[in-house]
Amino acid sequence: MTFSCSSNLFITMKGLKIVTYRIPTNVPANKNSNCGWVAMLNDKEIGWITMSFLSNKEILFENAFVDEKYRRKGVYTKLWEARWKFVNENYKGYNIRTYCRDTTVDIYRKNGFEFINPIFLMEYKIQ
Ligand SMILES: CC(C)(COP(=O)(O)OP(=O)(O)OC[C@H]1O[C@@H](n2cnc3c(N)ncnc32)[C@H](O)[C@@H]1OP(=O)(O)O)[C@@H](O)C(=O)NCCC(=O)NCCS
Repeated sequence: MTFSCSSNLFITMKGLKIVTYRIPTNVPANKNSNCGWVAMLNDKEIGWITMSFLSNKEILFENAFVDEKYRRKGVYTKLWEARWKFVNENYKGYNIRTYCRDTTVDIYRKNGFEFINPIFLMEYKIQ
């Protein structure tokens, strides 16, 4: 995964840095643009989350991944908090949607997200 670090750097726990990439500076942001937050430990990427801007005033919270070796240490929580702070400070009145797994449903509930519908995870291997 390639990304460019912006000057927006959050220092969190010891050695862990959360850096942003392609964070928009404009409100509203460009439709279909996406951006993200990457967790770096000693200059190694150990996790990331992303989001996209859909139509007017709609944001989609997307991928979330933390390297298996570093799970259950609060890395995802730090990424989540950085993204949450950013959207709340800059995009008041926007509607946020997400398709999430059982691993992240609690954090969404804790932050006030409502359950709308179950979804189906489908897979296909190209021959
Ligand atoms: C989901 C994932 C990003 C969590 O990363 P993490 O850094 O381990 O998460 P945190 O340590 O910050 O945990 C935050 C909360 O997430 C939940 N959580 C994390 N891993 C979980 C798991 N395996 N099962 C259930 N809940 C889980 C818990 O509520 C946890 O809070 P707690 O530790 O106080 O119980 C990571 O396990 C991962 O990359 N999984 C594979 C990909 C995935 O499922 N992505 C989510 C797509 S929506």
